[in-house]
Order: sequence, then C-alpha cells, then structure tokens
Amino acid sequence: MRKILTLLLLGTIAASAAPLQKETIADGFHDPMSMAPAPDGDVYVVEREGRILRIRPSTGGVFEVANMVVSARRASDAKSPYAAEDGLQGIALDPDFAKNQRVYLYYSHPEKVEDRLSRFTLRDGKLDLSTELVLIEVPLERSDLVCHHGGSVQFGPDGLLYLSIGDNTNPFESDGYAPIDNRPDRTPWDAERSAGNTNDLRGKVLRIRPNETGYDIPTGNLFPKGTAKTRPEIYAMGCRNPFRISIDPENSIVYWGEVGPDAGKESARGPAGHDEINQAQAAGNFGWPFLVANNKPYPIYDFASGKPGPMTDPAAPRNPGIRNTGLSVLPPAVPAFIWYPYAESPEFPIMGKGGRCAMAGPVFYHDPARKFNLLPKEDDHTLLIYEWSRGKIWNVKLGQDEKLQSLKVFDEGLTHPMDMEMAADGSLLILSYGKNWYFNNDGKLLRVLPPTTNHSPVIAIGPVAGKDRTFTVTSATDPDNDKLTVTWWLTTGATERQLGTGSTITLPAHEGSEIRAVATDGNSPPAVARLSLVKEKAAPELQLNLVGKPDALAFGQDVAFTLTSATAPTAAQVSVRARYIPATGHDAGGPQFSPTTTALVTANLCLACHQVDQNSVGPKYVNVALKYRGHPEALDYLKNKVKAGGKGVWGEVPMPPQIALKDNDADTILRAILGLAEGVSEIKGSLNGTLQLAPKPANAEPGGAWEFTAEVPGFASAKFRVAAK
Ligand code: HEC
Repeated sequence: MRKILTLLLLGTIAASAAPLQKETIADGFHDPMSMAPAPDGDVYVVEREGRILRIRPSTGGVFEVANMVVSARRASDAKSPYAAEDGLQGIALDPDFAKNQRVYLYYSHPEKVEDRLSRFTLRDGKLDLSTELVLIEVPLERSDLVCHHGGSVQFGPDGLLYLSIGDNTNPFESDGYAPIDNRPDRTPWDAERSAGNTNDLRGKVLRIRPNETGYDIPTGNLFPKGTAKTRPEIYAMGCRNPFRISIDPENSIVYWGEVGPDAGKESARGPAGHDEINQAQAAGNFGWPFLVANNKPYPIYDFASGKPGPMTDPAAPRNPGIRNTGLSVLPPAVPAFIWYPYAESPEFPIMGKGGRCAMAGPVFYHDPARKFNLLPKEDDHTLLIYEWSRGKIWNVKLGQDEKLQSLKVFDEGLTHPMDMEMAADGSLLILSYGKNWYFNNDGKLLRVLPPTTNHSPVIAIGPVAGKDRTFTVTSATDPDNDKLTVTWWLTTGATERQLGTGSTITLPAHEGSEIRAVATDGNSPPAVARLSLVKEKAAPELQLNLVGKPDALAFGQDVAFTLTSATAPTAAQVSVRARYIPATGHDAGGPQFSPTTTALVTANLCLACHQVDQNSVGPKYVNVALKYRGHPEALDYLKNKVKAGGKGVWGEVPMPPQIALKDNDADTILRAILGLAEGVSEIKGSLNGTLQLAPKPANAEPGGAWEFTAEVPGFASAKFRVAAK
C-alpha cells in the first residue's frame, strides 16, 4: 500500500512539472555519430559512412561540407566485408576555429588498416582534403566482428585534445566475460594486446597538445615520455569502448561512458557485465580487461583448459598476455564513478535496467551571462550522463572534491542519443542516431531548453495552388503571443540566400533545392518549416499479378502469382506475402502489436534492436513468427533464448541476455510475436509461385480482406487488397 502511495505521489509531481522544451533543428541524417558546436551557433555533424554536415540553426540550412571516403559498412552494400563499426567516428573543432577553420576528425582509413586522427582546414565552408595533417595512426584488426572504436574527440579548456579509442576486440567468444584469449591465432579475441597493453593506443583515452606540425606530449600523462614499453600519449588506459567523453570546462576532469561486457550474471569466469561512467581526476588505469565496475576482478581464465586462473589484484594488476608488448605490472586500477549491470543496480537503482550503452555528456555550470541556463542555479556543477540504449539522461550533481552528490533522471524517451553537447548559448544539443543499428535515415539534431524560457514559435508552409513556385505560410503561432517575423531562405547547392520576408514568396525560376520559412519571435530560437524542391528519383515499381485476377479469395485457397518490373528484380531477394485482415478492428496497414504489447517491448527496450516488420539489429518479429509457426515448442524455446541471449539463428550478431525481462512479460511479448504470423503466408526467393492462404481463424467474422505485398530491396513495393470470402 505504502509503495502504491509513493508511486502515485511521484506520478502527480512528474505530471505537474512543466516539460522541457525539445525541438528538432534538422533531421534526415544517416547514422550520425558525433557533433561539434561552433562558436557562431553552427553545428558540425559527422555520419558513419563519411559525410560531414554543417547545420545552421538560425536558418535551418543543412550543407554538405565533405563526403569522405572511409572504411564503412554501407547501405548501398549491406553485406560489405568491412568491420561492422568502422567509419567516420568523431569530430572536434579547433579552440581557435573561428580564426583558423581547423577541424579534427577520427576515421577508419579506406585502404590502410588503421583508424586515424587528422586535422583538416575548411576553405569556403568545404573540407579541403589536401590539407590533411595526420596526427595519430592507430593500426588495428579489421574484420567483421572485431569492434569498439571509441572515437570521441574533445578539447579541454587547457587546449589539450582528448581522443577515446576502443579495445578493437571481438567480444563474442568469451561468454560476456574478459576477452583475454591467450591461445595462438586468437589475436582479435585478446584485449590484453590492446586495452591492457601500456604500449598500444587502443582501449585508451589519449591526451595531446596539437601544434603547427603535429603534437606535443603534455606533462601529467600516465607514463612520462621515454618510459620503456609505454606510449606517452596515454592519459587513461584499461578502457573497453570509451564511447563518448566529456571534459569539465572548469577543471579539465575527464568523464567517459564505458560500454561494458555482456555477461548476465557472475560466475567462476568473473563478475556480471557492467557499463561505467568514469571520472579521471588524474591519469590512470581503469582496469579493462582485468577488472570492471568498482574494481570487480576477473580471474585470468585459461581458454585452452577452460580453467579460471589467479584473480586480478586491483592494487597491482598484471597483464600476462602473450601479445602484450608493454609492462607486465600495470598501474593500480581506478574504480568506476558510476556502474550498472543489465539487472537493476543495487548501488544506483535510478539507472534502471535493460540494454546498456553508457555515455558522458557536458558538465553544466550556471552562468547568468549566458542566454540559456539548462538547470537552476542550485544545480551549478552538474555532469549530464546519458544512455544510448535506455534513451535517458541523468543529472549527476557533483559535490566537494568532485564526489557524486546526487543522481536523478533529467529526461527520457529519446531515440538512441548518440552525442550530447552544450551550445555556446547554453542550449543542450542532442544528436539522435535513428531507430536502427545501421542504415538509418531518420537521425536528428535536437535542441533542449529549460521549461521556464520563452517558447519558440510554430510554423507550417505549403505551396499556393495554381501559382507556380509560390509558397505561403499556412500557420504561424507563438505560445507566448510574441510578434513574429518570417523570412524565406532558399538553398542552392552548398549555399543559401534570403529571398525576403512576409507570408508568401515566389521563387526565381529553376533555382534551389529547398525552401524554408524561418519564424523568429526575438526571444527564443527560431522555428523552421522546410519543403524540398527536388523530385526524388522514384524506385522502379513492382507489379504483383494474381493469376486469374480473382475478386474474392477463400481461406486456405491456393493463389498463383507472378512478379514483374521494368528492371528485372533478382528472384533471390523477392518476398511475397498474403495477410488476412479481419473486417472488424483497427488496421494500420501492416502487422502490428496491440498497445499493451507495444508498451511492453518499449519498456523492455526490445525496440532498440527489433521492429515488427523491418529488419534491424535483430530479425523483424514477423519473420520470427513465420519461422516458428506451427512448432509446439516455439514459445518455451524463445523464452529461454531471449533470457539467455545468443547468436547463430539469424546471423553472427548476438542478442544480449534479456535478464531484466520478467517471466510474465516474456510470455505476453513472445505470444504476441508468434501471433504476428496469424493469417499470414509468405513465399521467398521466387518471381512466380503459389501462395496458400491462411486457414480460417476460429472466431472469424464475415467479410475482411487479403492484403498482398511484394517486396524487393531497391524497388517500390507492390501492395493491394482482395476481398475475403
Ligand atoms: C542489443 C540488441 C537486442 C535487444 C535489446 C534484443 N534483441 Fe532480440 N535479438 C537480437 C539479435 C541480434 C537476434 C538474433 C540472434 C540469433 O541470430 O540467434 C535476436 C533474436 C531474437 C528472437 C529470435 C530468437 C531465435 O532464436 O530465433 C526473439 C524472439 C527476440 N530476439 C526477442 C527479443 C525481445 C522480446 C527483446 C526485449 C526483451 C529483445 N529481443 C531484445 C538482438 C536484440
């Protein structure tokens, strides 16, 4: 009873608090990885496959600065043999960017098997590739399942450049424990060669001072320059995948989110996997692959005999790796600042449970001179941390000696937040990666302002009927009733220009790719409405023909079909489906979950990797349903599989153990998944064939329809309905 009361109270408080102001500045990005806000308000964004974009929030303009050739798995070639996480990883602007236009990028080189940090210079808003100055080259292993690039580049207030680098190790053959495989020929499965190696740049946070021709080593790094078997660039070692880092702008303390290993629970092999937020007040060894979380040690497991060996001593960890080229006794291990497993964390329950991907965002200081202050004065000196998988942001109030004073949720419901920065005006920028693991085209740049500030206007535009190239404001309002000014902007190629003000505009002939109306109220950031002037090149259409052109079809009936198109599709990629849609009930044009199931898969973060009818990291649920249809053991098998995780059924990417999933929720979700096959029949890999329609459901009512769909990647799908009889 008491618990219910508390929950109710919390609910009331949450409901009455004004929501944050969250607006989309620009969208449609392809797997955006990282961003860098410039002093003038522009934001530079890098995409995994190599594009660099400049976004100008004051006009809504989005411009391509470069399209670099990098090693990356590509949407145009999804099965390309590149290492899965290769690509353009990180960007930072020079502290003197306004004057020197210098940009630092960390990317996977297309020919040399290395990641590298280089400096480039922008000329007339474009990246001049000929200006590349290579600063740091990181040779690595590059094959499909070797992952963890880190790749976050940041400048500290001291003008030092920090770069995070992952352990470049295959994490999938150590059962979610330490990948310290000392058998010969197991190089990519051994993080002793990288994160635990004092003489290797991988699995580290580096710290350097760039100069005109290269860089200097600042004092205070982990190993003084000239120390045998060490690299002087290392600031923090013992990192697995230090994905997003952040430097306190007042005192240069370094924070990073450490994406941890997968083990669902503790065993003789070591502790359960944990993600970490780390705080480096000074250079140090953060433990991986010998320790995790608050210095929970792993035994030195012998992969040949399957026996756990001696336990690591956090005070004097040793690296016994056969591929270790560095010191064998390592600096004492520094425990994590915050750590949490898949299950609810006993130490930090507010972190929740489920999928994990820890990230560190900016440290907030209250500054009355700045236009916006995200948090109130009493929250001065607060670190913002966030979670790619859980879609949440937390406030970490820092106390005396930088100790954790309190931890609370700041925001939630985000879609894979990939990077988070404070803009010069004090607004918080969030880069949202998109729903899927790869090949997103719905990445977004969001702006977050405190609830208390003046609100941005809202504007919509449309074409004027009967008048060529004429557009008008269809609605423009301001929540604070401020007076609005509308200016029109036209993008042509890599430039934009202002066309005029007012509610209607006629464009010059044959010019431009995008028209925008920008509404300003003089107090808050502007609102932008945009329309593309480019007609998308249509994909070839598929024609699905049912033999005999039936106008009604019965349950269980055989239906012969042929599939054609102007450009012949490859038979192997074809999938043709028929789905029964009952006469009653809601149907949004595709298999879907009930609202209850949707809420459950959302709360359990399954949607981070799965969609109902679209491939993602994991298989689409409809395909799971079709695969196991009619198998009496399917429900039990799938419950075990989801709890335990595993790979090999759909591909080589494993599902992490879903240990936070409650048994009765698992039952509801998996029944709903299996239910998606109801009424559906499918044939794959053939341009003509015969579908047998589904049998009559027990409680079928008269009427309804059969929906036929044909899909081939790269083609516009065919979809139509035929009445059911
Ligand atoms: C981090 C990504 C990830 C998350 C989160 C995730 N899955 Fe998966 N899931 C996968 C992958 C990858 C596979 C394919 C595994 C294989 O090939 O054996 C998979 C497979 C499955 C399968 C098919 C299993 C089989 O053996 O055919 C089901 C059912 C499933 N997931 C349900 C869920 C549910 C329910 C949740 C949420 C509680 C969930 N998944 C969360 C990645 C994920």
